[in-house]
Amino acid sequence: MSAVFVAILMGSDSDLPVMENSIEILKKLGINYEVRITSAHRTPEDTREYVLDAEQRGCVVFIAGAGMAAHLAGAVAAHTVRPVIGVPIDSGPLRGIDALLSTVQMPGGIPVASVAIGKSGAKNAAYLAAQIIGVMDADLKVALENERAANAESIRQKNRDLLP
Ligand code: RP5
Repeated sequence: MSAVFVAILMGSDSDLPVMENSIEILKKLGINYEVRITSAHRTPEDTREYVLDAEQRGCVVFIAGAGMAAHLAGAVAAHTVRPVIGVPIDSGPLRGIDALLSTVQMPGGIPVASVAIGKSGAKNAAYLAAQIIGVMDADLKVALENERAANAESIRQKNRDLLP
């Protein structure tokens, strides 16, 4: 599975602090990735060209983060049948509710898997991408299971620390 990669797209460099959370998780899991700034509205042709090219080169999942009238994930999904995960970003005065609705309310036939607004959503986008790849990659599936177990143990330890 070494040639496959995840593409992380974002509409603006102002989205990068949130999308770094996706990058961090993919790095930790040893998943190949590319990062691009490309916008559904400001550079629509570049977005289309990148998606078509990335798919040819082995992109298996697209993660698209955008704020405000966030159409990036939908615009990506319009050009590929690879899974597309949308991260709504709280970059405008409506604090991400606009981006959430723009990302999640896709018309039938062009799916986008929308995650939560902001940092948690960016993390979960990477985990979800890993889980998708893990369907065919047994080592990655085990790594995800081990991380879940470690997280559970960490919560149990926090609980024990509270006890008198
Ligand atoms: C969206 O508009 C971007 O995804 C970003 O979240 C928001 C604001 O962009 P900038 O004005 O900061 O470039 O397209």
